[in-house]
Amino acid sequence: MLKKLCTLLLLLSMALLTGCGKEERPKLIMVTNAEFPPYEYIHHSEIDGIDPAIIRRIAEKLGYDLEIHNMNFDSVIAAVQTGKGDIAASGITVTEDRKKKVNFTLPYVISEQVIIVSKTSAITGKDDLKKLRIGVQHGTTGDTYVAANIREPERYANGALAVAALKAGKLDAVVIDREPGEVYVTRHSDLKLMNEPLTSEEYAFAINKRNQLLLKQVNEQLKAMKESGELSRIIQHYRATANAEAIKNQAVHNGFFSKFKESFQLNFIKNKRYMYLLEGFGITLYISFFAVIFGVIIGFMVAVIRATNIMTGKLKILDRLCRVYLTVIRGTPVVVQLLIIYFVIFGSVDIDKVLVAVIAFSINSGAYVAEIIRGGIMSIDRGQMEAGRSLGLSYNQTMWEVILPQALKNVLPALGNEFIVLLKETSIAGYIALQDLTKAGDIIRSQTYDAFMPLMAVALIYLAVVMLLSWMLNRLERRLKKNE
Ligand code: ARG
Repeated sequence: MLKKLCTLLLLLSMALLTGCGKEERPKLIMVTNAEFPPYEYIHHSEIDGIDPAIIRRIAEKLGYDLEIHNMNFDSVIAAVQTGKGDIAASGITVTEDRKKKVNFTLPYVISEQVIIVSKTSAITGKDDLKKLRIGVQHGTTGDTYVAANIREPERYANGALAVAALKAGKLDAVVIDREPGEVYVTRHSDLKLMNEPLTSEEYAFAINKRNQLLLKQVNEQLKAMKESGELSRIIQHYRATANAEAIKNQAVHNGFFSKFKESFQLNFIKNKRYMYLLEGFGITLYISFFAVIFGVIIGFMVAVIRATNIMTGKLKILDRLCRVYLTVIRGTPVVVQLLIIYFVIFGSVDIDKVLVAVIAFSINSGAYVAEIIRGGIMSIDRGQMEAGRSLGLSYNQTMWEVILPQALKNVLPALGNEFIVLLKETSIAGYIALQDLTKAGDIIRSQTYDAFMPLMAVALIYLAVVMLLSWMLNRLERRLKKNE
């Protein structure tokens, strides 16, 4: 039985590991934050917009296989700096601070920061904003400008969320780049742009300082595209598309709060948005499933080592190591662990993000499982061990055949609880740009500006899985009771 289980686990982990890798042409990884129309946005589950179109063209000409990774804007430059991505294309403004971290290509667009307010607002310019609530996208030049020149802003994960907050009356103004600002104002007829711009900026692509070759290649291509007019054709095309989209969406918007059905249509059916939830759910389940398995394996080993040390005084060094592991893992937040594993430990390795999440959550869960199981072992009467030994069983035999089965049965409820916690905890996977269930809801939210439907849907899916899990655990518990 145990052997079979081990073989199965081995096969599963091999399947997991082979998922990443294999390629023919050299790969070019572009990183972006696809919440910035018309520069980058998600359309039919694909990342599209001015930046992806330009980079796609350049990659094609240079013979690269392009892969686009979507993440929070405040991670985009760091991703290039640490080698997670080769090129950042995300409507990035060239600034002196950023130049210290990455190299910039030739600029391809001129832009500026502008202010969006409600149409009925009395605000006439930036001087009126000193005492008001201003929203920005976290980590953008708008953020820096407002913080340095007006007041501390409220920072949102993307522009669409800031605009939603403005519409809901939670903000007085949003500071954002000109073109996304125009898209939002077109989409929402109750908003307007202030004329006076706050800054003047240039966008360029960012490349790792060590990759001089790529910088040279991209600059050559950019130059050629500028001269041939291709660059401005791409930009014009997406500006027009984004505008048309915005006008189309406007019609749907005006009435949708009133009607549940319409809202359901918009959030889940239109553009096949339910696919985000389905795919996200798959990733959430995948991560949770493997993390539970590896977490239990880790936890089991640690628990046995620690219990053995307590009962027999052996395995001193291993016990020390296990204690350090437990202290560190239980003493730091799982988000921080996830980020450390992704950006620091695997900082310069091209590794599948799902695998990173599985590793992070397994290590984290293992610590809790270890203490649960150790508690179970310690709760078994000492006499059991003595009885086993006096019957002629070895220590290991008694442990495996007498103590552990009883211990496991006792801790089943606590273990079940840990699995439930783990499933929900994977909702932070979005921090490393994985599109899990929670992130799927965020994506829909950023496209439809509706908070209610996507959040409810996500919550209901988690709830359903947890209920199913509890039910199964209950049944298992009852079964084991009967076998007693
Ligand atoms: N241009 C601004 C900056 O560089 C905002 C860019 C935001 N881009 C995005 N894809 N969200 O800070």
